[in-house]
Amino acid sequence: MTSKTVTIVGQGYVGLPLAQAAVRAGWAVNGLDVTESLVDALNSGKSHVDDLSDADIQEMLDLGYRATTDQSAVSTSDVVVICVPTPLGDGGSPDLGAVKGASRSVGDNLTSGTTVILESTTYPGTTDDIVKPILEMASGLTAGTDFQLAYSPERVDPGSKHYGIKNTPKLMGGINDASTQAAVAFYGTFIDEPVPMDGMREAETAKLLENTFRHVNIALVNEMTKFCKELNIDIWEVIRGASTKPFGFMKFTPGPGVGGHCIPIDPNYLSYEVRNQLGYPFRFVELAQEINNSMPRYVVDRVGEMLNDHRKPLNGSEVLLLGVTYKADIADQRESPAMPVAEALRERGAVIRFHDPMVETWNLESGNVTREADLDAAVASADVVVVLQAHESYDLEKLASSAKVMLDTRGVAPKPAVRL
Ligand SMILES: NC(=O)c1ccc[n+]([C@@H]2O[C@H](COP(=O)([O-])OP(=O)(O)OC[C@H]3O[C@@H](n4cnc5c(N)ncnc54)[C@H](O)[C@@H]3O)[C@@H](O)[C@H]2O)c1
Repeated sequence: MTSKTVTIVGQGYVGLPLAQAAVRAGWAVNGLDVTESLVDALNSGKSHVDDLSDADIQEMLDLGYRATTDQSAVSTSDVVVICVPTPLGDGGSPDLGAVKGASRSVGDNLTSGTTVILESTTYPGTTDDIVKPILEMASGLTAGTDFQLAYSPERVDPGSKHYGIKNTPKLMGGINDASTQAAVAFYGTFIDEPVPMDGMREAETAKLLENTFRHVNIALVNEMTKFCKELNIDIWEVIRGASTKPFGFMKFTPGPGVGGHCIPIDPNYLSYEVRNQLGYPFRFVELAQEINNSMPRYVVDRVGEMLNDHRKPLNGSEVLLLGVTYKADIADQRESPAMPVAEALRERGAVIRFHDPMVETWNLESGNVTREADLDAAVASADVVVVLQAHESYDLEKLASSAKVMLDTRGVAPKPAVRL
């Protein structure tokens, strides 16, 4: 029996783990990408994403995975999944350039009987209004009859020890029932719980609801953090108490801002479309953005106050930043709030250095930041230490006792350490 073929368009944080899951399930997998250097690296067994090692890529190659820049791979595929970036463009509007480009290259090579699935996070209506016409125009085929078309959002939790592709339920909504079932049949070969949805718009919006939910709840605890500080109430103890309620409450924790490729970006796709189509704002998203974007400045103000208590100005003080990635125990720096924190510290004249076991070089718009390799020596010599990301390897109790002044923005260091 010959194995079936899937082409996964975009071999980044989403496409590459998907390729691994599919090849392990017996699919022949083409990893199609426009970046030639990336394709070469993958074919020589080199990984560029946190969750996959070089050995994982070698295993994939042994099982039948090939990275390629050749779009004609689509023409011999049973399934094509599009996992290309959906960033924000000028003025914060959605930039669907990669989705449109990928759709065109898929359409140019599409053959009857193929199932095409979009995984990129995007606003409701993208699959139907943008991807479908491009595919149909380029191929001369009709969605829902000649080829199947569905949307299935990615739910990857980078660095998670508990949830991977297999045990995370996955939504899939097709242009018609046959398309939904075709997506279920594909994902069902390596995912425990495919969840069919009634439509593509509902599947697209569900993803945005999930990310907006996180964004809004993080903003809620961040706003409470600020006024609890003024009321002399320990927000961390408040959250610990509330979290003992076994129903109707979900724990979110304050921090220096939101980072990563999803939370700071995806809700904009929803608010943009609400305003675009209906003419009014999605107020929760705009408020959450305002509050979460204010957190880096709040951290810098707190650092300034703490130094002031020690009769030191921020201007000229040596500030050591610990952990500059957007999430603990991963190397991804995208949209990390460490960047605005560092820039604001520099603006006020602080001399910043960083330590991060996952990051070798850290570039800011205002220039490189010096990396400290010897953590203990750096902590002892800094005027103030700011924990921005509590990587597992940090012993924060020890660091708090050896630092002259320390602010833990993640609330991990035990009392009497100062938390945000
Ligand atoms: N990273 C996450 O944790 C995460 C989680 C859920 C959803 N998403 C969503 O998944 C999508 C992909 O994100 P990512 O993090 O994997 O992006 P990424 O930047 O890591 O990777 C995207 C890849 O697509 C390639 N690419 C760009 N245009 C292309 C084209 N026209 N044809 C072929 N390849 C092309 C790029 O070279 C890159 O290698 C986005 O919509 C994102 O919002 C990401």
